[in-house]
Parts: sequence; structure tokens; C-alpha cells
Amino acid sequence: MVHAIRIHDYGGPEALRWEEIEVGDPGPGQVRLRQTAVGLNYIDTYHRSGAYKLPQLPAIIGTEGAGVVEAVGPDVTTLKPGDRVGYAPLIGAYAESRLAPADRLIPLPSWIEDRQAAAMLLQGMTAQFLLRSTYAVQPGDTILVQAAAGGVGQMLCQWAHALGATVIGTVGSPEKAAVAQGAGCDHVILYHEEDFAARVRDITGGRGVDVVYDSVGQDTFMASLDCLKPFSLMVSFGQASGPVAPLDISVLAQKGSIFLAKPTLATVTRSRDDIEALAGGLFEALASGRVQVGIAHRAPLTEAASVHRDLEARRTTGPIVLIP
Ligand SMILES: NC(=O)c1ccc[n+]([C@@H]2O[C@H](COP(=O)([O-])OP(=O)(O)OC[C@H]3O[C@@H](n4cnc5c(N)ncnc54)[C@H](OP(=O)(O)O)[C@@H]3O)[C@@H](O)[C@H]2O)c1
Repeated sequence: MVHAIRIHDYGGPEALRWEEIEVGDPGPGQVRLRQTAVGLNYIDTYHRSGAYKLPQLPAIIGTEGAGVVEAVGPDVTTLKPGDRVGYAPLIGAYAESRLAPADRLIPLPSWIEDRQAAAMLLQGMTAQFLLRSTYAVQPGDTILVQAAAGGVGQMLCQWAHALGATVIGTVGSPEKAAVAQGAGCDHVILYHEEDFAARVRDITGGRGVDVVYDSVGQDTFMASLDCLKPFSLMVSFGQASGPVAPLDISVLAQKGSIFLAKPTLATVTRSRDDIEALAGGLFEALASGRVQVGIAHRAPLTEAASVHRDLEARRTTGPIVLIP
């Protein structure tokens, strides 16, 4: 008997239901995975609430996981039963077992544990494309990372620090300030207590930063623009506080001819080559010690609702893993 967490309607954490499901045999191009770990990310709360609509309901949410291949479809030659794999992003993760397209799965090196993979694939691949292609961070750059103690936030800080950037991070509490510092932030700002744009101006001697990575959205977007130097880049990649209000683009001119990017991991992992390149870069960064992944929170998959509550109430700091 296989169980999964499903939603039948969009809603709060109470919409998450532990139910028996049928998985079936893999079809062409598919494998069946026995899942050993599931990554929990902020996007899961958007899928649950309906902020991001799913193709159909009922649906199994969750976009990241790891496990062991149990069976392969008739034409699958790249994987075999017993192989360990991880994936992100791919909807349908909150389950004990699932079908998945073989070409979205990433074989795991022996030195990466399943739980570690489920904790970091999505956040690590996101950090990598943000730091290397959305904007290529260079030694000597100064960058601002909003919500620096979060899952993606800590990855961004560690990796940018290793690339030689000066990292300024914002956080919601003194406890999170210590976490952000541990992740490589050179300067930490408590954004509920201080005017973060004014502090960034102070820290940079009035110049502003080369790039802002903003995952908070509504509450920080406009002030983030005030942190940038002329002709620099605002990267809006999340909306933990709610969606950014419609924007009059002349603001970008007034703030110093600013460029604006709104990239997604889904777009940068469209092809097999993209997935392999991003996963390979992440494994390399881990192997070299440039970035490290500590699992900050773990819980049984059956307790997903309670972890959603903690994440939305800002009680978490970093990677979260659910155990099926
Ligand atoms: N574009 C992409 O492809 C992509 C990929 C991955 C993630 N993301 C986005 O990146 C963001 C971070 O994801 P994550 O999984 O790493 O989560 P996270 O950063 O660990 O958690 C969200 C954090 O946002 C901060 N926050 C600020 N205002 C908030 C509010 N009103 N409600 C709740 N939290 C608030 C909180 O930190 P403080 O307490 O320090 O304020 C909270 O801990 C999310 O918006 C996610 O959707 C985007």
C-alpha cells in the first residue's frame, strides 16, 4: 500500500491529506521510484494555496526528492533498478513511491546521501543559476541577499562568498543573523528593525550593490531597488511576503537605469543538458567544500502540514527534509 500527501482544493496547511494512492507500472520513458527523502521548499506552499495553480486537482504537491529506482519503463536504458537518483523541480514529490520521467532524474554520486540530495538539489541548483548565469558574480562584487538565513539564501551566501564577493544579507531575527553570518554573510541587517536600503548605502560608501537577490517580494521589492548602483541588476526570484505589485517600468529608469530579471529554475532546467550541467556544478561545489549543506529541519512526510505552518510563520532556517 502506497501513501502520499494530496490536495483536493487549494487552501491552508489543513488542505494537505495523507491518502492511499495507486502508483502502477512505469510507462515509456518512466521509472518507478521508492522515495527515501522529500525536499520541502517554499514553492510547495504556493502550490498548496493556489498562488501558483497546478494543472489539475487532486494533486500530489512537492517538487524535490530522492530515492531508489524500483522498475523502469520498456524503453528506458539510462537507469536500472537499484540506482539512486534525485530530482528537482518535478511536481508530485510528497509520496512514498512515484512515477517519474527518466530524463528528469539525476544519478547521485555515492558520497551524497539521499537526504542530503533531497535537501539541496532545488535550492543549490537555484543558487547556482542565479550566481553564475542570471548575473555572473565576480570577485570584488558586493551583493545583497534578502532572507539570507533561508534555504536558498544560505546557499547564495556561501557560494557568493566562495566566489569572492562581499555579501550583505537581510534576516528577520537575531538568531537568523547568526545563521546568515555562519553562511558567509559579511554584513547582516535585521530588516524589521533597520532601514535596510540606508544600511546598504552606508556599507557600500554610497555606491550601492552590483546585484540584489530578492526572494521576499512584496515587502522588500521597492527598497531593494534603492540598494543598487546604476546599470546594475535586480533579481526578483520569489515572493515569500506576497506578490510584487504591478510595476510602472519608468521606476527602473528613476532608480539608475536598473535591469530587472524574474528567472525560474523551471525555465533553466528545460533540457537534459541543462539539468546535467546544473547538477554537475552543484556536486562540484559540494565536493570542493565551497558550499555545504546541513539539514536544518527533518520530519516524517505525514507531518508536512505542521512543517508548512512553521515555514510560513518564518520559524525555519534552511533546508527541510520530509521522510516518507
Ligand atoms: N525562481 C525560482 O526558480 C526559485 C527557486 C527556489 C526558490 N524560490 C523562491 O525563493 C524563496 C525562498 O525559498 P526557500 O524555500 O529557500 O524558503 P526560505 O527562504 O527558507 O523561507 C522563506 C523566508 O522568507 C522570509 N520572509 C520574509 N517575509 C516573509 C513572510 N511574509 N512570510 C514568510 N516568510 C517571509 C523569512 O525569513 P526571515 O524570517 O529572515 O525574514 C522566511 O524564513 C521563495 O519565495 C521561493 O519561492 C524561487
